[in-house]
Formats: sequence, structure tokens, C-alpha cells
Amino acid sequence: MKTIIEPFRIKSVEPLRKTTPAEREKLLQQAGYNLFGLRAADILIDLLTDSGTSAMSTNQWAAMMRGDESYAGSESFFRLKTVAEELTGFKHIIPTHQGRAAERILFTVMCKPGHIVPSNTHFDTTRANIEFTGAKAVDLPLPEAADTQAKIPFKGNMDVAALDKLIETEGVEKIPLVMLTVTNNSGGGQPVSMANIRAVRAVTQKYGIPLYLDACRFAENAYFVWRDEPGYHRLTPKQVAQAMFSYADGCTFSAKKDAFANIGGLLCTNDDLLAEQETNLLILTEGFPTYGGLAGRDLDAIAVGLEEILDPDYLEYRIASTKYLGRHIADHGVPIVEPPGGHAIYIDAGRMLPHISKHEFPGQSLAVELYRHAGVRSVEIGSVMFGEHARHELLRLAIPRRVYTQSHIDYLVEAILEVNARKEKLRGFRIVSEPKFLRHFSATFEPVQS
Ligand code: F0G
Repeated sequence: MKTIIEPFRIKSVEPLRKTTPAEREKLLQQAGYNLFGLRAADILIDLLTDSGTSAMSTNQWAAMMRGDESYAGSESFFRLKTVAEELTGFKHIIPTHQGRAAERILFTVMCKPGHIVPSNTHFDTTRANIEFTGAKAVDLPLPEAADTQAKIPFKGNMDVAALDKLIETEGVEKIPLVMLTVTNNSGGGQPVSMANIRAVRAVTQKYGIPLYLDACRFAENAYFVWRDEPGYHRLTPKQVAQAMFSYADGCTFSAKKDAFANIGGLLCTNDDLLAEQETNLLILTEGFPTYGGLAGRDLDAIAVGLEEILDPDYLEYRIASTKYLGRHIADHGVPIVEPPGGHAIYIDAGRMLPHISKHEFPGQSLAVELYRHAGVRSVEIGSVMFGEHARHELLRLAIPRRVYTQSHIDYLVEAILEVNARKEKLRGFRIVSEPKFLRHFSATFEPVQS
């Protein structure tokens, strides 16, 4: 059969509350037209992020009841360690409360002012944590990836020639590590090929620089490799993931993505000395190395989630449902970042709303309209978030794992196409107030009068 279904049934439900467009207009005004300022209860379909928003399985909930809350030497930690070691092959598995805590510890230990950390594309917390140490975060995406419409497989790849050149010109001593984000979140959720991981590995090995994966969405990346890259189809997604990790010296990981957990992270490394420095820092701010800022029950939920995420039926459904949303809007005239990625669809709002200049935030305008029209929350990834550094004016529709059904997605498609049909009527926004850093979380806006 060709119909791909959700490979789970629902045991516990959360009601969704409907609101009217008039109520939503009022709520928008109260929130200063910033969707971060809304209450979750006022949202029908929440696509703000796929992070920490997964539905856990019965096995995860059951595992949580076994959580061992011992301060030191918790059994939950050893269960997680066994699963993570088998999956990643890394020697040291350090739990953290989420991905950015792993990043902060890694970069605090490895980076100093004057250093440069290249990546295919750094996620914003990764960049911020690198720059907090005084080092510089540099993105080296493929030049072709700048065209949102180019349907290139493995569009998340790193520009390997640019990496080699950067190391050559800056000098090895300035590059403490190289990172690869799989999948490439800020680059449209696009996967990185195994060939690219190997090529990056060859360069880092040539210079003796460690390679780290930002492995938040490692399973989705593994599925794309399994499906699309010659030579990998005979393996299981898990074996593909193991191969990906085998080329790296360590990883940072947010269990809020590809471990179906609501909180948690990991910092992994093969380097004994680094691991010692990292655990010392961990104790200072996160907690003892067998819990790392988490409850024992969270460690158990992650351990089970790391195995469930690699189920081929789940991954087939996951990637197909993201593509379903992408194709249904793109094939009806809504420009998206092509091809559809793993965890999200990104609408190219700059291209969709050419009458709104980037100074009047087309992505924000679309985010507001989608909420007003249909109660859907999404997030602007453009000039509101990155200011003058924005490469595109995007709207991200991130899909929580195992949470929404196909009829939710059909509703979403209908809503987006209805907004698209009257897109000329959308107007830009002006910022009324903004904080000094990370303004997208709390800035307030007002509509530009035409
Ligand atoms: N790296 C990537 C690629 C991410 O997407 C995220 C989080 C992190 C690191 C940080 O992990 O949130 O556990 O501290 N991304 C979320 C998002 C917030 O919405 O894309 P964290």
C-alpha cells in the first residue's frame, strides 16, 4: 500500500481550544504582535518549535516510573549511558539539562578569544555560546544553498573547499574544533550527506583538528542518508547513525529533538582530558556527572527515546509528513525552502510578500496573519531574529514529533493557501520596543499603516 500512516495510536489526549479571529486579533494586540508573548492555551496548532514538544510513548512514560533519583551513581544514568555508547561509540557520555548547556561547557573548555569555529551553519545558541568565549563562529554552507528554490539533495552540506581554505589562511592553531550540524536547522532543516561528513573528516584529520557533530536531529539526518545516498540503503537507520558518529570526535546533543524527550542533552567526547575538564565544569553549574541537571526519570525517558527515534517506520512517516506539508503548499504557489527538510517547512516570506521590504519584516507579517487567520503559531527566522545578518526572510513551521495528525496538517495547508490567496493585503510591521540581545523573544511591534 502506498498510504503512509502515523505508526502509533493515541492513548492520552490534550484538548485544543478554539478561538475566533476577533479574539485572536485582541490577543495579538496584547502581545505586541509577538507570538512568543501569547499563552499556549490560546493557540490551536503550535509550530513554534520541534524542541521539547514531542509526545512521549507509553514505554517512555513507563521508563520514567523506574527513574532512579540517587544523587550519585543512578541506575537511570547507566541505562542511558549504555544506549548512548552503543549508538555513538563515544567514550565519555555527559548528561546536561539541554543542548545549549552541552555547548556552553564544550566551548568554555575548548575556545578562547581569537579562535574560530567553522560549521556548515551554527544554530543561534551555538553561535552565541561560541562568541561568549570571545571566539568567532563561522558558517560555511554550500554556495548553492543560498538559493531557497534550488532542489539540491543534501543541501545542508558544508563547503569543504572553503573549510580547507579557512584553516590554511587562518592557521591551524586558531581552529580548536570544526562542527557539523545534522540536520542543518538554520539552513532549512536540510540533511548532510555521509560523503560530506567523510570529506570534512578528511580535512580535519589532515590538520589534526577535532570534529564535533551538533547531533540534535541525527536520526532524521540518518534517514535521508539511508533513503537517498548510494550505498546506505542496505543498512538500518541506526547503522547509518552509528556510521555518522564514527567520523566524529564528539558531539553535542539536545534530547529535546531526536530523543522524544521534553528536556535533556548530552555532551560526548573521546578525549579523556577534555572529558575531565568538562565534568568539572558540569559539577559547577549543571550537577553531578550521573545526572547533569536532570532528574533520573528524564535520563530514562531519553534512553528509551534514543532507541525509538531510529524505528524505520517512524522515520518514514516523519519525513513523509514534513514533505506532505511542504509539497501541498509549494505546489500551490507558496515558495518554501526547497526541498522539504526533516523537522520543519520554511516559507520564503521575502519571496512570497515582495511588497513588504525586509525592514518591515515579511516573516513577522506572515506569522501574525497565520495566527490571526487560523490560530497557528510559527516563528520568524529573518530580520527580526538576525537583524542585518539575515540571509533570508523565512517563516519556520516546525513540526513537533508524534503530536499532530494528518488532519491537523490538512487544516494548516488550507490556512496557508487561504492567506496566500490574499497575500497582497498583508502589511509590514515596525518595532515599537526591543531588548538589547535576542530581540525576537520579547520585541513588540505595530502594523505599518498603508
Ligand atoms: N543545536 C541545534 C541545531 C538546535 O536546533 C538547537 C535548538 C540547539 C542546538 C540547542 O538545543 O534548545 O536543547 O538548548 N533548537 C530549538 C529550535 C530551540 O527551535 O530549533 P537546546
